Amino acid sequence: MQDSIFTDIPVQYERIANATKALAFNMASDLYTGSLLKTLVASKGTAKILELGTGSGLATSWIVAGMRKDAKLVTIDNNALLMDIARQNLADERVCFVCADGYEWLQTYKGDKFDLIFADAMPGKYDLFEEALALLRIGGFYIIDDMLPQLNWPDGHAAKAEKFIDVLENRKDITLTKLNWSTGIIIAVKTADKEF
Ligand SMILES: C[S@@+](CC[C@H](N)C(=O)[O-])C[C@H]1O[C@@H](n2cnc3c(N)ncnc32)[C@H](O)[C@@H]1O
Repeated sequence: MQDSIFTDIPVQYERIANATKALAFNMASDLYTGSLLKTLVASKGTAKILELGTGSGLATSWIVAGMRKDAKLVTIDNNALLMDIARQNLADERVCFVCADGYEWLQTYKGDKFDLIFADAMPGKYDLFEEALALLRIGGFYIIDDMLPQLNWPDGHAAKAEKFIDVLENRKDITLTKLNWSTGIIIAVKTADKEF
């Protein structure tokens, strides 16, 4: 099996990747993560999906590719330049692009809960994790990437990542699997509404 062969790269991917290079943005999720997101999204039927950290929309393109007709995606980023690339290439009535601060959004959102959260920004991952998890339905997926050391990590980030993994592993309201694959993925499923 060759896991590096992707036969279903979203049609918009190359155009988004080219526009992303022009902005020298180097934090995009890779093809492995994208492919996994598409598969998990496809498992959820009429899913409500939350992406924290749209970037230029590379992972978003995979999420959209996995969405069924009635699924909905809310995707958040505070960088308007990056989000414009995503918006231009992935315009779709099922997708709501929100250019906002993720910290503020997570603390003020009052809508429906989500079936899958891809948390790829500080808010919802290293910060305000509790708030993000509260927005996930029981049985919903919480996905993070970049959990193995990355070249663009600032000083001190490795310790932060280890601490966060420890927090996740000690929770009683999720069950998770750590994958030393791609950039280091954690797939968690919410099993209860509150920690007990
Ligand atoms: C790791 S990148 C996401 C990359 C994306 N998954 C992709 O495939 O292109 C993290 C993103 O979080 C965004 N971000 C950083 N701080 C934020 C904040 N406070 N609120 C919302 N977005 C934020 C950055 O602009 C960046 O696009």
